[in-house]
Amino acid sequence: MSTIRLGDEAPNFTTQSTEGEINFHEWLGDSWGILFSHPADYTPVCTTELGTVAKYKAEFDKRNVKVAALSVDGLESHNGWIKDINETQGTTVNFPIIADEDRKVSTLYDMIHPNANDKLTVRSVFVIGPDKKVKLIITYPASTGRNFDELLRVIDSLQLTAYHKVATPANWNNGDDCVIAPAVTNEEIPTLFPKGHTEVKPYLRMTPQPNLK
Ligand code: BEZ
Repeated sequence: MSTIRLGDEAPNFTTQSTEGEINFHEWLGDSWGILFSHPADYTPVCTTELGTVAKYKAEFDKRNVKVAALSVDGLESHNGWIKDINETQGTTVNFPIIADEDRKVSTLYDMIHPNANDKLTVRSVFVIGPDKKVKLIITYPASTGRNFDELLRVIDSLQLTAYHKVATPANWNNGDDCVIAPAVTNEEIPTLFPKGHTEVKPYLRMTPQPNLK
C-alpha cells in the first residue's frame, strides 16, 4: 500500500485491460488522464457509471483527457459485462477497463479501504496531468455513484489554473469569473488580466475567465 498525495508522480504500472496490455505512462502519453476504480463487475451503480463515461467520451476528448476504469474482476468478466453496459445504457464502452484480479494496481493506488470493504475497491478517482503528476483525488463509497459533470467541471478548473494565474471560486463553472492568484501583485494585473478586474478586498480580486474570447 502506498499513500498517494497531490503533486506526487502517478505510479506507473503495466497491466491487462479490455483494450490489451497497458503501460500506464506510455498509454497516457502527453494527455491528461483519469484512472477510476469501481467495486465490481455486474453491479448496478457501476453499470450506470461506465455507461455515463462512455457517453461523455467526446467531452473528455475535447479536454485531451484519456480515461481508464479498473475493477478487481478479470478480463472475461469485464468483456461479458461490457455487453450488458452497452445494452442497458445505450452506449459503446470506448475506454479500457483494467482487469486487476491480482490487486496490483488497486494496491498501488490504495483503492481498497479495508474498513469499508476488504475485497473490493472503493470508487476512487485520480486525475493525472500531462507531467504525470496527480492533480486530484476523490473517493466515493460503493453506494454513491459519481457525478461526471462535476468531474468535467473540475478538469476545466485544473486545466485553467495550470496555465493561468487564477483559482476558481466556490461553485465555479466554465465561463464564470475567476479569482486572481494571491501571488500576483497588483502591478502585474493589467498585463496578466487585460480584461480588467474587481478588487472586492485586497485579498479577493476577481477577473473574467482569462482563456475565453
Ligand atoms: C454498485 O455498483 O451498484 C455497487 C457495488 C458494490 C456495492 C454496492 C453497490
